[in-house]
Amino acid sequence: MKMKLRLSVVLLLVINLAFTSANDKNKTFVATTEWQEIDEGQGIPAGLHVRINLKTGKKEAKLLDSEEEGGNNNNNGALLNVEQNVYEAISKESLTKHKAKVSKKLSDALQNLPKGSLSIEYSPEKLEQVKRDFKTYGELKSFKDLQKGFHSDGELITKLIDEYKNISKEDQERPITSNTKINTQLRILEDLDYLVHQIDNALWFIDKGGLDKILLPLVVNETNINLRMKAIRVLGALTLNNPKAQIKVFEKNIGGYLAQILISSVHSEELSSALYAFGSLLRKFPLALQRILSTSGTQALVAVLAKECELKVKAKSITLISDIIVEKRLVLSKYADSDNPLAAAQYAELNLQEWLQSSGFCETVDGLVSSQLYELLEQPDLTEYFVIGLENTAEICESIWSKNAQLRHTLLTIKNRYMQSKDEFRGEVAQQIETLVQILYSHNSRDEL
Ligand SMILES: *[C@@H]1O[C@H](CO)[C@@H](O)[C@H](O)[C@H]1NC(C)=O
Ligand SMILES: *[C@@H]1O[C@H](CO)[C@@H](O)[C@H](O)[C@H]1NC(C)=O
Ligand SMILES: *[C@@H]1O[C@H](CO)[C@@H](O)[C@H](O)[C@H]1NC(C)=O
Repeated sequence: MKMKLRLSVVLLLVINLAFTSANDKNKTFVATTEWQEIDEGQGIPAGLHVRINLKTGKKEAKLLDSEEEGGNNNNNGALLNVEQNVYEAISKESLTKHKAKVSKKLSDALQNLPKGSLSIEYSPEKLEQVKRDFKTYGELKSFKDLQKGFHSDGELITKLIDEYKNISKEDQERPITSNTKINTQLRILEDLDYLVHQIDNALWFIDKGGLDKILLPLVVNETNINLRMKAIRVLGALTLNNPKAQIKVFEKNIGGYLAQILISSVHSEELSSALYAFGSLLRKFPLALQRILSTSGTQALVAVLAKECELKVKAKSITLISDIIVEKRLVLSKYADSDNPLAAAQYAELNLQEWLQSSGFCETVDGLVSSQLYELLEQPDLTEYFVIGLENTAEICESIWSKNAQLRHTLLTIKNRYMQSKDEFRGEVAQQIETLVQILYSHNSRDEL
């Protein structure tokens, strides 16, 4: 499916629950048949259509059209699917409170875990799993067995969600060993991971309440790191190249939770999963980019670069930053003949350069690369990620990077060593370093003349 995030396209939801702030009549939303903006924290009556206007980023509501009232599901466009979930407009205030609470929870949870459970074996094979996430749905032959007896993927997904709910319920009714429970949950998540790579399956999963019933609680509150990571993976699969799913996940503020995990986690594999999900949610979604990166998102990506974790994870983080900068550049360069001037306008407002600067990105990368000479010498593939990342962000950080003799020494040493190698790939990376060095230092020396 062509990635085409139509800005006029809207998300419709049916409100099942009234949550008017009872005694404050003034704040109650008066609905008409026209779309109207809902103010921050404003209560709205039950039974309205609600959408996020992707142009303004504001929530809007109107009365249901009579033929829509039955909650018909005949609309082909999934954006018109009527969702039965309870929809909560969270006021700014409660959102902030909630965030603070979650943040505390997560770090508490991490601190309270016994040391051993945090350091589950982290092998190269595990890292490969991220790459396998991209395997195509059709390749999953063994998975076909699972599908026997079900008419459609949709039925299968519904069954998996039910099974997941049963497992959680059983917990209260009769004792079930927590290992059995966790293994069942992991198995269900594994199956969902395969299924939701398909766009329609992902939307079905969301429509059936999968975000609220399964993923959100796991991502926000789960203390078992394997379950939490698996849920984050599923989230990444769900949103990867799936604009409609990206919108729904964005609406649940899951981007904020992922940012929180990126800030608080010290576990390389979890950070890697969270970066995958974060990137899937944000890519080509200018409104989400703007909202999430202008708040905790940029800080979260820089935090990964600064913390103690594997260099591979940091390479992923700088690559995501670099990709977003390139994405913005591409959209804006095509502005003149763009069929989507609104997207261009939104990208123009995406002030990632400034947010990176104020999050200490330049200094962090400077310190990081300068201190990683030996690791980078050994790992040309990682060096390539960093060199591309530095090149795409050079215009932001040039004044800082060009002054650091240690950084220059590191880059030149790697370049020379790679040039002496017979390995073709190292030779290519050496060329890229040369280009970077030109950008950083030739300009500088001109200034000094
Ligand atoms: C509602 O707001 C208007 C002005 O904004 C004010 O005159 C009126 O007294 C308010 N009514 C209530 C019930 O608070
Ligand atoms: C869930 O539990 C209900 C009742 O306990 C049962 O009828 C149903 O078959 C179970 N569903 C799954 C998928 O296990
Ligand atoms: C997380 O746990 C808290 C406290 O138990 C609960 O109030 C909250 O709803 C949970 N969040 C999610 C997304 O399940």
